[in-house]
Amino acid sequence: MYNFQYANPTRICFGEGQIASLPTLIPPGSRLLVLYGGGSIKQNGVYEQLTRALEGVTWQEFSGIGANPRYELLMEAVAQVKRERIDFLLAVGGGSVVDGTKFVAAAACYEGSNPWDICGKQVSVHQALPMGCVLTLPATGSENNPTSVVSRGDVKISFRSPLVQPQFAVLDPATTYSLPARQTGNGVVDAFIHITEQYLTFPVGGDVQDRLAEGLLQVLVENGPRALAEPTNYQVRANLMWAASLALNGLIGCGVPQDWASHAIGHQLTALYGLDHGQSLAVVLPSLLRERASQKQDKLAQFAERVWHSTREDKALRIEEAIIRTEQFFQKMGLGTRLADYGLSESCIPAVCSNLKRVGRTALGEHQDIDPDRVARILARAL
Ligand code: NZQ
Ligand code: ZN
Repeated sequence: MYNFQYANPTRICFGEGQIASLPTLIPPGSRLLVLYGGGSIKQNGVYEQLTRALEGVTWQEFSGIGANPRYELLMEAVAQVKRERIDFLLAVGGGSVVDGTKFVAAAACYEGSNPWDICGKQVSVHQALPMGCVLTLPATGSENNPTSVVSRGDVKISFRSPLVQPQFAVLDPATTYSLPARQTGNGVVDAFIHITEQYLTFPVGGDVQDRLAEGLLQVLVENGPRALAEPTNYQVRANLMWAASLALNGLIGCGVPQDWASHAIGHQLTALYGLDHGQSLAVVLPSLLRERASQKQDKLAQFAERVWHSTREDKALRIEEAIIRTEQFFQKMGLGTRLADYGLSESCIPAVCSNLKRVGRTALGEHQDIDPDRVARILARAL
């Protein structure tokens, strides 16, 4: 196991009715801005609960933060923050709203002339407004991590800063009953692949990390399809929500190598062709695992045995069985696993590779040896 430091400063407030605890979480006397998306919170009762909880608090709102939050819109929120002297931000929604709010938190305090540099040039964030969140879509882990992903034109880039990690995250599984099946599926697949990015690399003796990762993967495999069949089953939703948070709160990635190539490639498919984040990953991961099967063979064989309970004697067959079972799981969650499922053909391959070069992502994976040529081979396997 490698050396590491670990701290996760986000307070998790988990369970039905926890939105009511917001007044105890937001510092008294705050000038609060509530940021949300396209309106799902007005249909599922979350906005109503919020309004009730925030009685007596001074607050205003900013709405319309869509999937893959866009820089230009977020800068409108920054203008509101400055104009109204806002000093605390509350994100209410899925990963896009939380990520967008993180950017607003940093950009509102940015002293340089061009806040896009926080993403585009990875300029360090020295100051940010404090924020918290109410999560309504288990998927990204953004509610308890320091990462934000922002889009501008056909570029989608992440930045990280401990200063934008939410101080608290309200996780009420009942708020996820209203998720469309497509978003439930996307969320489960995204969380699954956050785990594989930190687990399917090479062994370094991280038994704790491995067993945690395998346990979380099994929770997703067991509960994901049940959420589609029984959308209002509280225990199922609760287990998915907690698993997705733990999948990307830094814990299982401590002291072990990490991959993240599927994410880097997937982001280009989203930026260029509009695939949902989960969909882009469902296309890339199986092909990436096949392309890298020999470098990843020890962990893939372990994944086959412990997660998919494969009993095949032959290691290569066991690995292929695990990849097929993974693909079938994504399909069961309603996601296509081939480029053709999204109307894409081989003409997308050079475009994805050149976008990766544009954003400087030309040495990917746990060995930093996935260059654009290898990316092209991975995508060719996914046609
Ligand atoms: O906008 P509204 O009306 O709220 O609708 C949203 C949106 O259309 C809807 N939704 C959310 N909660 C709902 C609901 N509909 C009904 N009931 C509810 N309870 O779902 C749609 C998708 O929401 P979005 O926030 O875009 O989804 P997700 O949480 O999957 O976030 C995806 C974004 O997060 C980034 C992705 O790249 C993408 O931009 N990621 C962020 C990460 C991080 N910060 O650590 C890591 C991830 O790998 C990922 O890259
Ligand atoms: Zn993801």
